[in-house]
Amino acid sequence: MKKLLVPFVVALLVGCCNPTNPKTESMDKDFITLATERYSVRHFSDKPVEQEKIDKILRAAQVAPTAVNSQPQMIYLLRSAEAMEHANQVSPCMYGAPQAFLVCYDTERVCQRGDNGGNYGDIDCSIVLTHMMLEATDLGLGSCAVGMFDAQKAVELFNLPSNIRPVLMLPFGYPADDAAPSDRHSQYRSLEETTCEL
Ligand SMILES: Cc1cc2nc3c(=O)[nH]c(=O)nc-3n(C[C@H](O)[C@H](O)[C@H](O)COP(=O)(O)O)c2cc1C
Repeated sequence: MKKLLVPFVVALLVGCCNPTNPKTESMDKDFITLATERYSVRHFSDKPVEQEKIDKILRAAQVAPTAVNSQPQMIYLLRSAEAMEHANQVSPCMYGAPQAFLVCYDTERVCQRGDNGGNYGDIDCSIVLTHMMLEATDLGLGSCAVGMFDAQKAVELFNLPSNIRPVLMLPFGYPADDAAPSDRHSQYRSLEETTCEL
């Protein structure tokens, strides 16, 4: 019995004490499983998400890579009745979520592109939002990236400062019982079509 217990206890201790061990929430889920599990949830339950889970999603956003580590993201949490009423006014794609994020970038922090006069804000925000979606999935939540919203109306209704540019919205929460991936979710173009060795 002792012989059996020792390796078990050692494995437990190594798993818990190793600060580089990334598998804290989903002990046995590899990345591709998590990435494939994520789908655009378009019907949410009205159960609000616990603050602890929201904090973890925001932590995932914080550690996302950005151009020259400029970290230009400005993320607004929308969850009061008034904020969600505004969210529903700026987009038809909140899908009944009791809360959402509005992911923006700060024009005073964003890294400028040398090539075309633009900046990396949209790209940075997309990566930040991807981290958030995957963390939400890992926490048993659903989310949907939403580009279909009136950014100008969002600026007005949320009274955003002039240096803030909205990029994407992210309704998130517990999926409703009948939530299911759309047909598009599992329609992947082949790797032969989308990749090429040069
Ligand atoms: C940049 C971007 C914008 C999107 N905008 C919307 C949107 O406005 N409304 C919506 O319902 N889904 C939106 N989606 C979700 C996509 O339609 C969805 O990711 C795609 O069809 C694949 O399905 P899946 O997410 O279930 O795998 C958006 C996704 C991305 C990446």
